[in-house]
Amino acid sequence: METIHGDLYDYPQYYEIVYGDDWRAELDFLLAALEKHGRPSTKRVFEPACGTGRLLWRLGKKGFEVGGNDLNPKMITYCNQRLARHRLPKSAVVGDMTNFQCEKKVDLIFNMINSFRHLATEEMAVNHLQSVARSLRKGGLYILGLHLTPTVKSPIDGESWSGRRGHLAVLSSLQLKERDLKNRKEAFQMSFEVYKPTEIFRIENEVSFRTYTAEQFSALLAKVPALAVAASYDFAYEIDEPITVDSSTEDVVFILKKKD
Ligand SMILES: C[S@@+](CC[C@H](N)C(=O)[O-])C[C@H]1O[C@@H](n2cnc3c(N)ncnc32)[C@H](O)[C@@H]1O
Repeated sequence: METIHGDLYDYPQYYEIVYGDDWRAELDFLLAALEKHGRPSTKRVFEPACGTGRLLWRLGKKGFEVGGNDLNPKMITYCNQRLARHRLPKSAVVGDMTNFQCEKKVDLIFNMINSFRHLATEEMAVNHLQSVARSLRKGGLYILGLHLTPTVKSPIDGESWSGRRGHLAVLSSLQLKERDLKNRKEAFQMSFEVYKPTEIFRIENEVSFRTYTAEQFSALLAKVPALAVAASYDFAYEIDEPITVDSSTEDVVFILKKKD
């Protein structure tokens, strides 16, 4: 199979085939979490590292004012075209989630599937959380989903997903190449295998994630006193089943609240 070495995030159309159908549980959870933990009248929402905006446009259709940023211009073009197709403002911008400021304060910021762990250093993560705190109204929420590194069992080493649109099928895989817990870094080989009636090819690159044990995440959060954990859930997205985060926790969705 021909292999192209390139940034997978340069292929939003394939990203969307693989991950685009996985939205309902996350969307329902965001709405339920807002009702349970959020401000009474949530109007504005923002997604740092919004990618294709698979959740953003759906929130837009529900009447929220939505905005997002992403480092990758191809993702932003894709996201904005889709917002426009749904008669919503093209409100996603090319930008770095390390340091950002929403034009108007927002009620909800969300980051559901590990994008936060692309922030490579503690300083970047602190700057990101400070940007979040600056952009949220008092009582506003930051809903942050990530994989923690459990210390009492082995963390996961890989995952794969697939999706299909008509005659186009995409198989995505994430395989661990190196885990360096001392330097808080995991390198994964990430690939899309693309199957079309006339051609088959593979796109691959290496992505890197900063690691967090539960304790390391708490230590990070302590550096941004404006945000506090209101509740924690896992990737089952069951609003009636909050979890207690401990040394065995792997997938977690933190509900962080901007203090009054
Ligand atoms: C796994 S995708 C997630 C996209 C989207 N949030 C979703 O839930 O489908 C990760 C995204 O993070 C973006 N990204 C990585 N580092 C970033 C940074 N420092 N600032 C903004 N976006 C970033 C990538 O370009 C990519 O679109």
